Amino acid sequence: MILLLGGTGYIGQAFASELHARHLEHRSLSRHELDYTRFDVLLGVLRSARPQFVLNAAGYTGKPNVDACELDPGGTLAGNLLLPQTIAQACEVAGIPWGHVSSGCIYSGAKLPGPDGVHAVKDLTQPAARSIVDTRPETVQGYTETDLPNFCFPDPPCSFYSGTKAMAESAIAGLGSSYIWRLRIPFDEFDSPRNYLSKIQNYPRVYENVNSLSHRRDFVRACLDLWALRAPFGIYNVTNPGWVTTRQVAELIQARLKPRREFAYWASDAEFYRLAAKTPRSNCVLDVSKLLATGVVLRPVLEALDESLQHWQPAHPWSVTEP
Ligand SMILES: NC(=O)c1ccc[n+]([C@@H]2O[C@H](COP(=O)([O-])OP(=O)(O)OC[C@H]3O[C@@H](n4cnc5c(N)ncnc54)[C@H](OP(=O)(O)O)[C@@H]3O)[C@@H](O)[C@H]2O)c1
Repeated sequence: MILLLGGTGYIGQAFASELHARHLEHRSLSRHELDYTRFDVLLGVLRSARPQFVLNAAGYTGKPNVDACELDPGGTLAGNLLLPQTIAQACEVAGIPWGHVSSGCIYSGAKLPGPDGVHAVKDLTQPAARSIVDTRPETVQGYTETDLPNFCFPDPPCSFYSGTKAMAESAIAGLGSSYIWRLRIPFDEFDSPRNYLSKIQNYPRVYENVNSLSHRRDFVRACLDLWALRAPFGIYNVTNPGWVTTRQVAELIQARLKPRREFAYWASDAEFYRLAAKTPRSNCVLDVSKLLATGVVLRPVLEALDESLQHWQPAHPWSVTEP
């Protein structure tokens, strides 16, 4: 049996569907049912139910976006740092392996070629970096699992949310047997306020940057595949190979869904942060070589985006596409 924590959430629901599709026996536990955030309660469940594996898809993301985490630091710390630490300790005491959904948002930018070799560039909106992205995309490299987070409390600026996600990785790294799966900007074909493709369609103006992304179903499949393959425990970037600019995604949406509106963009970072965002946003490219080397198969990000748009299921069909 696999124990799923946070199965009521956006990512947890995708884990639950995939476990169901694979006919894997599982139990989804909600705080409403049992307060698994308490060490004694969780350890009791682990000792009585003896799951083979624990999946932690619980966490505090902030709604409607990460700005909300700045207003609730206690809740953010509880969901993103204390909870994973509690799960790590309970799983270690019970001798049960587990997987934790982390985030790629602990990085900013990408690794770009420079006069002295490849180096990390945090802000890809700067003209020199953007020129490399546009004219030599093949030279853009993502951060690997051995690169230290650079959008976190020790390496600011960062959002409070990102800071807590990075702290959790350090806190659980040496405890027991665990996977740390880094998700990044989930999307799929189901229109939802949590889906990146829906968000882009609904923003009054689009923020242009460069990112790796995770197709939601591809992500949970890859995480479960790692466990099924008994791949070595540790940190894995779990994004669809490659990266995209927001403008590319908007163009794909235009081409496939033909929305009635034209996309408008923020004129600059300064304008975006003055009018639309409170805390800094992570935009980054991740390298997935470590994941692919295990034998886990993930399709390229453009393919996953296009397939999602081809099979788009609007929440309100009459409001999206031209006749
Ligand atoms: N969605 C994204 O864009 C994204 C991107 C990268 C990483 N992630 C990470 O993926 C994980 C799942 O995110 P999600 O988008 O599925 O979140 P979500 O929809 O908000 O669901 C999270 C679930 O976590 C549980 N939970 C346990 N303790 C909590 C606490 N203190 N505060 C809030 N919720 C708590 C809740 O389930 P119960 O109340 O039923 O127990 C809740 O339904 C999180 O760790 C998040 O940081 C998300």
